[in-house]
Amino acid sequence: MRILVIGNGAREHAIAHSLARDVQTTALFVAPGNPGTAQIAENRPVRADDPAAVAALALELEVDLVVVGPEAPLVAGVADAVRDVGIACFGPGAEAARLEGSKAFAKEVMAAADVPTAMAHVCTTLEEVAEALDAFGAPHVVKDDGLAAGKGVVVTDDRDTALAHAERCLSREGAAVVVEEFLDGPEISLFCLTDGATVVPLAPAQDFKRLGDGDSGPNTGGMGAYSPLPWAPATLVEEVVARVAQPTIDELARRGTPFTGLLYCGLALTGRGLRVIEFNARFGDPETQVVLARLRSSLAQLLFDSAAGRLATAPAPRWRDDAAVTVVVAAAGYPGAVRSGDVITGVDDAEEIPGVHVLHAGTARDADGVLVTAGGRVLSVVGVGASLKAARKAAYKGVGAISIDGGQFRTDIAAKV
Ligand code: AMP
Ligand code: GLY
Repeated sequence: MRILVIGNGAREHAIAHSLARDVQTTALFVAPGNPGTAQIAENRPVRADDPAAVAALALELEVDLVVVGPEAPLVAGVADAVRDVGIACFGPGAEAARLEGSKAFAKEVMAAADVPTAMAHVCTTLEEVAEALDAFGAPHVVKDDGLAAGKGVVVTDDRDTALAHAERCLSREGAAVVVEEFLDGPEISLFCLTDGATVVPLAPAQDFKRLGDGDSGPNTGGMGAYSPLPWAPATLVEEVVARVAQPTIDELARRGTPFTGLLYCGLALTGRGLRVIEFNARFGDPETQVVLARLRSSLAQLLFDSAAGRLATAPAPRWRDDAAVTVVVAAAGYPGAVRSGDVITGVDDAEEIPGVHVLHAGTARDADGVLVTAGGRVLSVVGVGASLKAARKAAYKGVGAISIDGGQFRTDIAAKV
């Protein structure tokens, strides 16, 4: 299979890492890719959220499958454009990708499909926001309606902070914010492959969204993750498929906008049961880094079967007994304005450590070929081991080998578990 992966983060490097080692893969391209994917695939420049450009590149490279990593190209209609030129694409069309692109749309679909989620008010004025905040009480949850790279959500006990965030979101033309009831309890991420009808769950993972140790500081795109979840109820995956993923996929099919690709279910296990916190229309970052590290089956085959509508007859994914932990190393300033151009050292040393591999995100090569920072989340260091303890130890040994001026990482990923 000739495969083109779209994107340039650690998630896409993780996907490419699995595909590169897959006997089903005969040629592998990443567009635009990063210095990490350049080592295992051929990088091609492309504007990832330009549907016509991606479709043209897929035709030029004569690929059998395009795998779209990030949300922005999906919301822009890249998957539609690729399918329109007759090439299989892993990822939903623009209409179905609204499940991630608009939190208000996701709430509407969940209501229609009877999927459990936080009560919410969609607000377009500050007066409505104030009313909703008072109706739900603290802690307050205020979300930008549109895409915000994991940084559009504020959870706070302070009413003025909640109002200020809503005001910032509403300052854009036509904007809306969603004010929600606060959901208590541990969060999990479950990725479900789907061809629009059949749902195939992958292994659940847990993400660490806050910047600082002990879940302190601002929300980020994600600072680390681990899988499996030894503490999760044995029926968790089954329950999420039955109560969340399958009804949502069925509802979108019923509307004539079937969702194919990856339905990311972000869930809270509250005292009152399972609740959806968010849907994403793509693999999560950094959870993908740990989920794929544990996958034994052919990723190429699973993605192709999803894209080709053949999941009903595909064999169930098989998993390693191993555990995986990933720790994100972010640049100075993240998640605010980040500093670029800091020299990164020690990546090769980290990769020498048994059970460790390093995935690139915000990295670049300078004029002399030196690896430097070029984005918020710079690297994902993945450790795999016989237990979570061993995987965690490996991941942090890897992080310890790497040095970036001003680099930030959490020291407590998978510590409690
Ligand atoms: P989202 O972008 O919707 O995933 O939100 C990002 C993060 O904010 C989530 O992973 C949660 O940690 C937190 N969050 C979002 N919604 C809620 C909620 N209703 N109650 C508590 N925390 C939330
Ligand atoms: N790790 C959260 C996300 O991918 O949205």
